[in-house]
Amino acid sequence: MNFSTVREFAIQLDSQDKLASFREAFVIPDPSLVYFDGNSLGAMPKAAQEKSRQIVDEQWGVDLIRGWNKGWWDAPSRIGDKIGRIIGAAAGQTLVGDTVSLNLFKLATSALTYQPNRTRIITDTFNFPSDLYILQGINNLLSPSPSGRGARGEGAPSPSLEEGRGGGTPSPSLEEGRGGGTPSPSLEEGRGEGTPSPSLGEGRGGGSKYEIIRIGASDNDITPDLAALEAAINENTALVTLSHVVFKSGYMYDMQRITELAHKKGALVLWDLSHSVGSAPVHLDDCNADFAIGCTYKYLNGGPGAPAFLYVNKNIQEKLSSPIWGWWGQNKPFDFDLDYTPAPGPQRFMVGTQPMISMLTMEAALEPTLQAGMESLREKSILMTDYASFLTENWLVPFGFSLGSPVDSAMRGSHISIRHPEGYRINRALIEEVNVIPDFRAPDNLRLGFAPLYLSFADLWEGFDRIRRVMEEKRYEKYPKQKLAVT
Ligand SMILES: Cc1ncc(COP(=O)(O)O)c(C=O)c1O
Repeated sequence: MNFSTVREFAIQLDSQDKLASFREAFVIPDPSLVYFDGNSLGAMPKAAQEKSRQIVDEQWGVDLIRGWNKGWWDAPSRIGDKIGRIIGAAAGQTLVGDTVSLNLFKLATSALTYQPNRTRIITDTFNFPSDLYILQGINNLLSPSPSGRGARGEGAPSPSLEEGRGGGTPSPSLEEGRGGGTPSPSLEEGRGEGTPSPSLGEGRGGGSKYEIIRIGASDNDITPDLAALEAAINENTALVTLSHVVFKSGYMYDMQRITELAHKKGALVLWDLSHSVGSAPVHLDDCNADFAIGCTYKYLNGGPGAPAFLYVNKNIQEKLSSPIWGWWGQNKPFDFDLDYTPAPGPQRFMVGTQPMISMLTMEAALEPTLQAGMESLREKSILMTDYASFLTENWLVPFGFSLGSPVDSAMRGSHISIRHPEGYRINRALIEEVNVIPDFRAPDNLRLGFAPLYLSFADLWEGFDRIRRVMEEKRYEKYPKQKLAVT
């Protein structure tokens, strides 16, 4: 499309926008606010606002404990199946609950213990730091040797872990876990009865059990080095785990291709969909992905701290064991059996009681996304990021900005990063002076998210015009370089 910098052009795009009416489905208290942060916290759908009141007043207030038999207990799988429609997953594979970080812990640990003789984990430097920390923590947990814990291979192990383990012997809880219950066949095979597995033993002698490979950038922190990724996946790789759309540059991986590459070498693949769910098409089943996790508070508009989701491919569900055996993952929780038996399917990855007010509010928030459909959302999202790239080129590059995202729309999600050495102070000036909300990601990325459900093209134009004015008038110069706690 031939874009133009004149405002009328944006108005014209709005008049042709099939999704324009969805803006009405959202609470927009300040029409002059330009909200470029729906990729971090989505706006509030009116349906979610109404539902949260109803849940508090009628469900909690009146139903009390009866609520568990009136749609609370099965909420994780019911809502999981709705999210499944958005991410290309047939029913029975997606559950909501816990946080993205916790779900990664559960699924990655399960994947690693499924193939205990493989010791390579592949991720990248583009991944969200919490994902990297979780992998480091798992490595720490599964590598009982005092030396070389953590990804950096430095630093002493934490005193509490050491105390718990008594210097290289398995902890009582691990021992208990091995003797009883019915863990997955592969766990049984690997471990024997009450004896540590050979693979766990190997890890103990010389440092970390796992080698965590972080693939770097092929260019200026925009695109991962795909050749290095391909070369790193070998027969020793247990898990490849990446963000489908990466949080800074917005680069989007070819899920099908990477999953196939990993499967060829027998590795399992786990995708973090936090930045793609609700804004870019995802086809987990078609790609034969093994696992996925993601949040619901960004493009799904579920609300701050809304529960996350997890996906486990039906072909491997029964072979896996969760590292956390809670009663919500037990086969018959209301038998109150004193020994754990895993629930069938992905349910075994549940742990304990879920936050119903937040979960059911999020369920209502999914409606606009389900109604709009991913194809239309992606179409508008591409138009928006293309338009934003055009305005960056024409208006902002002369002020020292550069585009920190892929130029090709097929390779990016629904946000772009524009980079500037003064990015942090510009971000503050935009929020405090001109009513534009982007966010800032160090070292120099001003992230602009375009939520296709409620952002108009006129908003987008207006936001860029205000950024341009802040630069012209150097209004960021009065802000300190010192950062606030949340950027
Ligand atoms: C890509 C990605 N992964 C993981 C997380 C962590 O999510 P949570 O705080 O729900 O654990 C985030 C949070 O923003 C994220 O953007």
